[in-house]
Amino acid sequence: KKIAVFASGNGSNFQSLIDFSREEKLQASISLLVCDRPGAFAIERALAAGTPSFVASPKDFADKQAYESAVLQELRNEKIDFIVLAGYMRLIGPTLLREYDGRIVNIHPSLLPAFPGKDAIGQALAAGASVTGVTVHFVDEGMDTGPIIASREVAVDNNDTRESLQKKIQETEHALYPAVLEKLLNGSKERIES
Ligand code: GRF
Repeated sequence: KKIAVFASGNGSNFQSLIDFSREEKLQASISLLVCDRPGAFAIERALAAGTPSFVASPKDFADKQAYESAVLQELRNEKIDFIVLAGYMRLIGPTLLREYDGRIVNIHPSLLPAFPGKDAIGQALAAGASVTGVTVHFVDEGMDTGPIIASREVAVDNNDTRESLQKKIQETEHALYPAVLEKLLNGSKERIES
């Protein structure tokens, strides 16, 4: 199976997927990076890994549909089977959802449905949560709303700072995302227990 990873920023989850695929712990090929922010560090990671990237700024297109049509063309050219969102900071619209229905997943740094949207880690800290975590879910038209595939808890300690909590959450993401994808791509429809 050929995967396209969509990322807008640092791309540490993209990196972990590349690494797992290299070590053959993920029986899929990370075949394309789609990036909506020229200059994002994820693009350098793609270059270093020899993974092709499609970098396009939505503001250079007439509207969202035109932007997504260009992305879709690239996905078709590369014969992409599956879309993995990893820090992609925009909603997926109908153009991509229609073609990749049930084949788009996202990772979010909270136990959904708690703390959706931006800055989930800050939201968890502000709420005084003692447990937060990471969720992998199918993507629908909403913000962090699609059916949940897997989640894993991360404890919030009294002395946790934003940095320390973020580090724990990212470590959890880097292990959970490849494991979930491996099961998903091998056809398991069961909920994956953490
Ligand atoms: C991750 O925390 C992910 O859960 C969220 O955005 C962050 C992306 O981090 N959706 P990175 O770009 O993969 O380092």
